Amino acid sequence: MNNSRGNFTSKLGFVLAAAGSAVGLGNLWRFPYLAAKYGGGIFLLVYLILAVTFGFSLMITEIAIGRKTGLSAIGAYKALDKRFSFLGWLACLVPFIITPYYCVIGGWVIKYLSVFLTGNVSAAANDSFFGSYISQAVSPLLWFSLYILLNTVVVIAGVEKGIEKASKFLMPMLIILSIGISVFCITRPGAAEGLKYYLLPDFGRFSIKTVLSAMGQLFYSMSLAMGIMITYGSYMKKENHLEHSVRQIEIFDTLIAFLAGLMIIPSVFVFSGGNEEALGKGAGLMFITLPKVFESMNMGTVIGSVFFLLVLFAALTSSISLMETNVSILRDKLGWSRKTATLVVSVYVLIVGAFVSLGYGPLDFITFGKMQLLDFFDFVSNSLLMPLVAAGTCILVGYVIRTKSIEDEVELNGPFQSKKFYRFIIRYIAPICLIAILIFSVMEALGLIAV
Ligand code: PHE
Repeated sequence: MNNSRGNFTSKLGFVLAAAGSAVGLGNLWRFPYLAAKYGGGIFLLVYLILAVTFGFSLMITEIAIGRKTGLSAIGAYKALDKRFSFLGWLACLVPFIITPYYCVIGGWVIKYLSVFLTGNVSAAANDSFFGSYISQAVSPLLWFSLYILLNTVVVIAGVEKGIEKASKFLMPMLIILSIGISVFCITRPGAAEGLKYYLLPDFGRFSIKTVLSAMGQLFYSMSLAMGIMITYGSYMKKENHLEHSVRQIEIFDTLIAFLAGLMIIPSVFVFSGGNEEALGKGAGLMFITLPKVFESMNMGTVIGSVFFLLVLFAALTSSISLMETNVSILRDKLGWSRKTATLVVSVYVLIVGAFVSLGYGPLDFITFGKMQLLDFFDFVSNSLLMPLVAAGTCILVGYVIRTKSIEDEVELNGPFQSKKFYRFIIRYIAPICLIAILIFSVMEALGLIAV
């Protein structure tokens, strides 16, 4: 047991730090485009069901593993059972895959912020703006580099404390502004149809792809199956009520994703007609839709600027935690100083991310099947590695160390209200579903099925 680790000073501190990592581009950028693409209400329903079953159980497991062992992923899995050490290594791979492309999107966010700050809203609201912007070579790379620099400075200087303080103010601001913008969007003429699409499940649109994408999204959004919540758990005090904290983080994370969908999906119907093509825009959806919303508002320039500033902040709190994870893995394993490790990670992100960024322009001939580089990285982490790590974790906890060891950790301070439910999910439901998901993903990747 490693007692030299710092602890979060308050319960709220822990919840906020974990929520700061969880709430990010996954909620604001990724969730709405998946929901739009995969059937609206049916995606939302499947996502919510997965969140309260899998999401809840896995987050409890990861935080409890971290708090119990006092170690981060690699050490923690090894401490639980040597044969499962490989899970720690696989989990650690994920942040290395996600960080580069996360920073590319971070660069897009800064670009949009600068467009709004300079008052060019109507240019940004044009349909072709996003596509022609990301297919350029130089400009996206410059904004992407700036985004990395912001991360590098914070991780080297270690000013996370300041960020924690800022989060207490900015996160609630993000919620309030999102509610305001959603209300604006859903009261536009023509929004009702979009609202129906987003909120009412149409079972005719259900497919295995709905489940696959919702599950990948769940891991991504809640920072699960990549060792991050284990590390956070290792910093959590024994006095904190684990189950309550997990509930709070989940509610917070899901609420923001839900609001992002509410801002974006009805607007696709209002401003772009809500046809399959408009809904299936993928990675560009937020960037294509929101400027149109802001353009149609009074004071849209100001509101849009503030909004993109808050998105940038939410993205930064997540990518800093991603980068910090990469840095601490290198420091633990190679004994490097914080500065060296951070610089090496930054250069790595710069190089790999540059390929992703150029993948929309000069390098757009590099594709994997139908996937562009960004989608490919996204697929490898969200559809392959994360379900694999999650399935392995459930088998380890459900059958090797047994759920009791996790339950005892949760019960250190108060009863574990959903204990039976938890045990049932971890032992039976989760491993079967995760393995099924993994098989579908692999078959899809090999082109054996079209889902
Ligand atoms: N959960 C974050 C988001 O929704 C992404 C992230 C993943 C951040 C892993 C940190 C670690 O944007």
